[in-house]
Amino acid sequence: MGGAQLLMLENVTRSVLLPDDSELHILTGINLTVTEGDHIAIVGRSGTGKSMLLNILGLLDRPTSGTLNWQGKDATRLSARRAAAARGRDLGFVFQQFNLLPGRTAVENVMAPLMYSSGRDFWQRRRLASEALDRVGLGARLDSMPQTLSGGEQQRVAIARALVRRPRVVLADEPTGALDVGTGRAVMELLDAATVESGAALITITHDANVAALARERFRLEGGCLHPLSQEAVR
Ligand SMILES: Nc1ncnc2c1ncn2[C@@H]1O[C@H](COP(=O)(O)OP(=O)(O)OP(=O)(O)O)[C@@H](O)[C@H]1O
Ligand SMILES: [Mg+2]
Repeated sequence: MGGAQLLMLENVTRSVLLPDDSELHILTGINLTVTEGDHIAIVGRSGTGKSMLLNILGLLDRPTSGTLNWQGKDATRLSARRAAAARGRDLGFVFQQFNLLPGRTAVENVMAPLMYSSGRDFWQRRRLASEALDRVGLGARLDSMPQTLSGGEQQRVAIARALVRRPRVVLADEPTGALDVGTGRAVMELLDAATVESGAALITITHDANVAALARERFRLEGGCLHPLSQEAVR
């Protein structure tokens, strides 16, 4: 509450062109404000456009129409280079399939986003990555290969990697989708605590009502728009 406004979407739409040249209107009017320290959950049926919305929030895709304000600037006007720089510096991503580099140790995976940074972030990248892994409870597994870690541990490495550059916004697309219920809950609590600790906002896309219940604000994506959900509706 009372933190800086990070993202604001007004009347954002996104359509796609099908091979037969017809247009498919996926997002038809998205309004959303994201402020420092927020934890927002977005639920919705498969195919409603949740990942598409996350890609727009993550500056990976652009709206067809509407405005996307990113830290006070019109993000639809950012050049590809500036969007990529903002992504690296200010955004962290966590995916269902962890997306760790298979031939690299845990600490090397977490160091990867720091390879393109400068100054202290670059020179102290191993120490910063070790500390990030320590914060997710994996300080003893720095040199382990991803395939020797459990699913929950791999997702914790991915969380450390998403947070190592201290992003303003963390975007998680089905972060517990590949985990059993108990592990998923533990990973989600960790992701929530770690983003709060770093002052970032967290946006979680999920099918799981228990995961959504952890967020402080909840929406259902339906018919191309976000509909606020009460705590009771989610359970
Ligand atoms: N580049 C594209 N071209 C054509 N259709 C697309 C494209 N990208 C997405 N779509 C369609 O847009 C719709 C929304 O896709 P999206 O991946 O955002 O759904 P989702 O809500 O994340 O679903 P899920 O829960 O299954 O992950 C789908 O019907 C998908 O087929
Ligand atoms: Mg999806």
